[in-house]
Amino acid sequence: MRHFLSEWDVTKDEFLALINRGSEYRAQWESGTLEPLAKRHTMAMIFEKSSTRTRVSFEAGMAQLGGHAINLSPRDTQLGRGEPVEDTARVLSQMVDIIMLRTFSHDIAERMAESASVPVINGLTDLLHPCQMLADMQTFMEKVGSVEDKVVAWIGDGNNMCHSYINTANLLGFNLRIACPDNHQPDEGLLERGSERAKRVESAAEAAEGADLIVTDVWASMGQEDEQAARAVVFQPYQITDDIMALAKDSAIFMHCLPAHRGEEVTEAVLEGPQSVVWEEAGNRLHAQKALIEFLLAEAET
Ligand code: CP
Ligand code: NVA
Repeated sequence: MRHFLSEWDVTKDEFLALINRGSEYRAQWESGTLEPLAKRHTMAMIFEKSSTRTRVSFEAGMAQLGGHAINLSPRDTQLGRGEPVEDTARVLSQMVDIIMLRTFSHDIAERMAESASVPVINGLTDLLHPCQMLADMQTFMEKVGSVEDKVVAWIGDGNNMCHSYINTANLLGFNLRIACPDNHQPDEGLLERGSERAKRVESAAEAAEGADLIVTDVWASMGQEDEQAARAVVFQPYQITDDIMALAKDSAIFMHCLPAHRGEEVTEAVLEGPQSVVWEEAGNRLHAQKALIEFLLAEAET
């Protein structure tokens, strides 16, 4: 059974094909010509953390493909009362065609995939956010072109999004410069595996110099709310400002997976400025994930 828990779960060719298909779905959406899939499929969506984009893009995407998505929160399912994730996976596999899970430890997503007999999609764990990567790369290719050998600056926290950028730099072949405060560096194992394309640099300015894409994310991720105030101090030199954008190429674009905290990791001027593509990036979650759902359902039938 094929799952999508990490960028490494697909080949480079498959990742690029998903992006192309995502762009086709975007064009069909814009022209009102989107055709549903031949079969009606059902998705179970498990959210152990909050979500706006992931929830709406998967639910709307399943509706547009002629299927249905069921939202499950631990508060009102037996998962929240201690039913093992393995049992939940086996039960859901009897009832739905595909599962999407947003959770804390990546291990929970892996355990769910091991016990499920339908595809499992990672809708964000503490370690990775691969669905956002599909949307980010689709947006880059629509706006700029091939990402191969381009320079991408990751500035901010060495978090799940940073890890996904490290994986994708190596899968697709772009050069990633990572500027994070000392105690907020990305996972060493992931960085070592991705060291051919991903390198740590000393400052936000060094990362941004001549870059094609500047990316950041919140300074305190979900589950780190109590560190918010302390982080706001340590991360201040990593804020994306007009000065940082000015160091990048004139053609550079700015991305953020959202939600954004204006005045923290990014200024209002950059977020709302001409180089920001964050709204298209968010919109592409819908289209990239329809491509992913279609791909995984087709793989499951072979
Ligand atoms: N970017 C993203 O995954 O947003 P949500 O938390 O709103 O799903
Ligand atoms: N790094 C953020 C991403 C939110 C989409 C978090 O995990 O909260």
